[in-house]
Amino acid sequence: MFKIIIKENYDEVSDAAFEVMKEVLDSTENPVLGLATGSSPVGLYQRMIKDHEETGRSYKDILTFNLDEYVGLPRDHEQSYWTFMHENLFNHIDIPDENVHVPLGIGDDPEQNCVDYENELVKHEIAVQVLGIGSDGHIAFNEPGCPFDTPTHLMDLTEQTRRDNARFFENDIDQVPTRAITMGLASIMRAKRIILIATGKNKAEAVYGMLKGPKTTDCPASILQDHPDVTVCLDKDAASLL
Ligand code: F6R
Repeated sequence: MFKIIIKENYDEVSDAAFEVMKEVLDSTENPVLGLATGSSPVGLYQRMIKDHEETGRSYKDILTFNLDEYVGLPRDHEQSYWTFMHENLFNHIDIPDENVHVPLGIGDDPEQNCVDYENELVKHEIAVQVLGIGSDGHIAFNEPGCPFDTPTHLMDLTEQTRRDNARFFENDIDQVPTRAITMGLASIMRAKRIILIATGKNKAEAVYGMLKGPKTTDCPASILQDHPDVTVCLDKDAASLL
């Protein structure tokens, strides 16, 4: 079930997302958090950092699981999602590194990395999963055509996703990795609650597909129509086709 919140701008969208996160943090003892990278959740993470600084809320006993990681980027690469999460959240709160889980994009056997990640993931219930959405309707890196019942797996990134993400790689699509390891749609659907954040006109079509379109693997986010508790935080541009 979707609760749709439409706000004027990114700041207000981030405030709305933080309200949901705060509700979970306040009402659950040591919740397990599912986290995303990309531009969409940065404002939410800034609010979590501010709240930590101002209220002393502790993340010492909280576990986190991230959605995805590029295949081939070592953890200390400046564009790895490991680095992104440390720069945008983990370095600014009191979470110990052993509580942080980000899929491992390097090593001899990426398939085994997927199995290991999923095996760890199923031991926990994600209290709230933060999501962005790709302009092609992907959530995590589950690209169009990806079956709804997949666990953590490897995914070839679409041209559109690599083009969208080239802004982080000196606007050079050739530098954007071609594959990612990603939580599957089945892994994501197990989360108790979901916050999905989308802003900007380039997300409007994907947002429409997710909320109003048919449930189809052509728009992976449309699987969320079957989830009992999704708060969708949008700005006017992302909501413009609704
Ligand atoms: C990131 C992720 C992706 C992004 C999506 C939107 O961990 O899983 O699905 O959420 O590509 O990216 P932004 O927020 O940069 O527009």
